[in-house]
Amino acid sequence: MSIAVRTLYPALGAEIRGVDLRAPMDPETFQEVHDVWMDHLVVVFPDQPITDEEHVAFTRYFGQPEIFHQTIIRSRAVKEIFRVSNVDDDGNLMPPSHPTVQQVSLAQLWHTDSSYRAMPCVGSLLHGVEISRTGGETQFINMYMVYDELPDSLRTQVDGRRARHDFGNLHRLRDLKPLTEAEKAAMPPAWQPLVRWHPVTGRKSLYISPIYNDAIEGLDAAGARRLIDDLTEFAARPRFMYKHRWEPNDVLMWDNRCTIHAVTPHDPTERRVMHRTTIMGDQPVLAA
Ligand code: OGA
Ligand code: MN
Repeated sequence: MSIAVRTLYPALGAEIRGVDLRAPMDPETFQEVHDVWMDHLVVVFPDQPITDEEHVAFTRYFGQPEIFHQTIIRSRAVKEIFRVSNVDDDGNLMPPSHPTVQQVSLAQLWHTDSSYRAMPCVGSLLHGVEISRTGGETQFINMYMVYDELPDSLRTQVDGRRARHDFGNLHRLRDLKPLTEAEKAAMPPAWQPLVRWHPVTGRKSLYISPIYNDAIEGLDAAGARRLIDDLTEFAARPRFMYKHRWEPNDVLMWDNRCTIHAVTPHDPTERRVMHRTTIMGDQPVLAA
């Protein structure tokens, strides 16, 4: 069986049809899918009415699924599912002030998943269970292109330098309970290179995760904030960006090693239920 691939945007994004995510995948098909993913960074599998168990099983072709450290957004039924949702596990819509909704709403700011871990994840797979029509579009940026096109004034500030990524920074951005000492100890901040090599493609990309970044080597807090803001502003240009308008049962798979993403706001009275798995990293970030 051969898959059908359609480019969605020049910078990144491709649609793959002809793969049933519920069925076992033979090695040739896996290789084809993996190659398309590495070339296009974000792949969309339309029309995949998968169960959470099938979602996890498909994820296992690409690596070990992560079990998220916080119970508030982890599914009760399937522990590898991370619930990106304003609807609780019992099906009730939560108000915007609910801490879970506050935390989920941070995905409206640019980031790459789990960059605060010593070994950040490889990629994420997001299943549109109940999609939004009032917003809730997911935007992705090709960070290889961003690095390649950085002006010298920014490139000289990132080459050879590291930034800090702290999960606890989320609590400074939204009205959330601060982390307990035990939570802080379990999730210490990680220093990551600002420029990284991709272990599969061998390409260099800019590695920032603005919601987690709270410090940069050699800069004071204001200087670090300014540099992250300048890099983010440079990156968030239409020519580097694919914006996904969801249909029910789309499954998106993105590479967190060379992209950042952010979701657009939506009407908070509209239900939005997205289920995510995360492919665990098995090596530290390669400094370039
Ligand atoms: C995520 C995320 C964006 C969205 O699942 O990691 O950032 O569109 N989600 O829900
Ligand atoms: Mn995310």
